[in-house]
Amino acid sequence: MSAVGLTPAQVAQFNSDGYLLLPEYLSLETCADLLSVTRKMLADFPLKDHPMTRFSTDEKDHIGDDYFLTSNDKIRFFFEEDAFSSSGELTKPKEQAINKIGHFLHVLSPEFAQISYTGHIGARNAAIAKDLGFRDPRILQSMVICKQPEIGGAVPPHQDSTFLYTDPPSAVGFWIALEDATVKNGCLSFAKGSHKRSPVKSRFVRKANGEMGTTFLDVSEENAAWPRGIEKDNTTGKNFTENYTLGEVKAGTLVLIHGNLLHKSERNLSEKSRFIYTFHMIEGPEALSDDGLGWTYDDRNWLQPPAGGEFTKLAA
Ligand code: FE2
Repeated sequence: MSAVGLTPAQVAQFNSDGYLLLPEYLSLETCADLLSVTRKMLADFPLKDHPMTRFSTDEKDHIGDDYFLTSNDKIRFFFEEDAFSSSGELTKPKEQAINKIGHFLHVLSPEFAQISYTGHIGARNAAIAKDLGFRDPRILQSMVICKQPEIGGAVPPHQDSTFLYTDPPSAVGFWIALEDATVKNGCLSFAKGSHKRSPVKSRFVRKANGEMGTTFLDVSEENAAWPRGIEKDNTTGKNFTENYTLGEVKAGTLVLIHGNLLHKSERNLSEKSRFIYTFHMIEGPEALSDDGLGWTYDDRNWLQPPAGGEFTKLAA
């Protein structure tokens, strides 16, 4: 039996809102297993030789060190910005100080592979990709985001296609709550429909000329700020104040997020963590649109394919 993807009504809702909540996508038992796998990784990774790279979403000081830039085919650990004292010492045990783990869990961890591209959940993910119109869906990165108690950092409004850029944009995020995400522990919120009025304005790239680090390039002049086939609404280009809708969800919920959709999350100052797993897919090199055009992955993007040059196929 082929896997069930989305109903036509769910596809229509995703196309209209730019995101879609699918409760009970994973069982609570699977969530508990994935949480224990994650907690073991956090307990086991050695601090010795760790460069203490912190994860920041601030445009001015976005991370760009070698530990981050070579994490495309590894499982690496990035710290919360607020996990350090003014003198640079960790103020929490390392298990409670990591902001996120990335970016190759979907291949290197069998348990996370099982909810990405293998097994029956992988088959269902592939069916969802097909229902969303993907022709050659590729998983290009994966992360556990921990949103630690008391110090979990805020993520300002952004579009995922800025960080996972194809020309034209094609990214879609799969975001799965492993624990309940509430307003108290920093759930997501979404600017509903903003994917139809917000072009991708910049993309996150490696600096040129062999210089270490990352920067943002303006893409608004490149005429590649919109996915193919998107129906822009009539507020595009006008000064529009976005309203954000809270996305409180139970553990096990899958949230699909359009790459042009503005979304954000607040700090977690509560006593509860907010562990989630997310991976992103883009159109791959074998995809051709109806008019025979493809999608280009830029070799300046911060994230480059693993050895062999191919991102992971998401196929049923
Ligand atoms: Fe995001």
